[in-house]
Amino acid sequence: MSGSRFGDNVEMTRPLETHDSIRAVQWQGDHLRLLDQRRLPDEEVWIDCTDAAQVMLAIRDLAVRGAPAIGIAAAWGVAMAAKQGAPLDTTLSMLRAARPTAVNLMWALDRMKKRIAAGAVADGLVHEAQAIQDEDLLANRRMGEFGASLLGAHSGVLTHCNTGSLATSGYGTALGVIRAGVAAGRIARVYAGETRPWQQGARLTMWELMRDGIPAQLIADSAAAHLMKSGAVQWVIVGADRIAANGDTANKIGTYQLAIVARYHGVKFMVVAPSSTVDMATGTGEEIEIELRDPNELLHTAGKRTVVEGAQAWNPVFDVTPAELIDAIVTERGVIERPGSIAMQAMFGW
Ligand code: MRU
Repeated sequence: MSGSRFGDNVEMTRPLETHDSIRAVQWQGDHLRLLDQRRLPDEEVWIDCTDAAQVMLAIRDLAVRGAPAIGIAAAWGVAMAAKQGAPLDTTLSMLRAARPTAVNLMWALDRMKKRIAAGAVADGLVHEAQAIQDEDLLANRRMGEFGASLLGAHSGVLTHCNTGSLATSGYGTALGVIRAGVAAGRIARVYAGETRPWQQGARLTMWELMRDGIPAQLIADSAAAHLMKSGAVQWVIVGADRIAANGDTANKIGTYQLAIVARYHGVKFMVVAPSSTVDMATGTGEEIEIELRDPNELLHTAGKRTVVEGAQAWNPVFDVTPAELIDAIVTERGVIERPGSIAMQAMFGW
């Protein structure tokens, strides 16, 4: 649980703003503008969603992705539906079904639903969606400081998937810790796994880091064990899509194997996620639904088939890391070291 390590304040030696320039989810007053993450890094193309169905498609088809970002986008979808006089019950259930694993989506929609039940109309729902977005940014800044305070001097870190500004309201979760750690001069080396098959690490994390002037090296996912064996990395830092009541954590496929390899090599493993990712109604990771996506995502690379015709593929896009392999869960409420049911209940119990 949050403890003495917070006395160890992180002093920023470089201004944070230089490491935080991207805002991928933007409310325009009557519609939602999204930076299309399918097109990065080749092109910076913006999509204008003018109704909630378009927001649902943008979430389902990964134009917007990352657990906090899809919750925020969905909240704006509900606010837009209210402004247009569309039926809110069907809007809520349509958006809820867009993707199954990241609980931030359900959390944001439940929050909007509560406001509707309390009698909020369009203005109130716009206000709520804005609050969800603003609170996420504040949480990320706070987690950045908490997480960076756990890092020793001259640390090497490895991250997976994309957990940065693109995946959140800004700054990021795991990438927020990396931003804060770099700003504080604590991080000497940043490695990012490419994150097959959708390449969130290669296409998105590397783009964010380059754009914000943070030096990093891309590795093939399969190079992670070799990298950890070399001693270049002291922490693996990842985000989460859902954290169960016992600390088991669903995140991008490949996270679980990183945790196993990290433990074997004495490398620490940090999960960084806002409390909107914590699902105390789900007892353990066994109960988390893992999204299975189209096998074509594996059978094709950059739109071109790379596997022999007729071959099949299995494409789960998340996995569950058992709590026992996690050294620290960092949320905006504080840090849980060596997470388990008791510590989770103490921080997140109803
Ligand atoms: O399929 P994606 O790209 O939405 O998966 C994203 C992840 O797994 C992230 O690590 C997670 O959502 C945390 S983002 C702050």
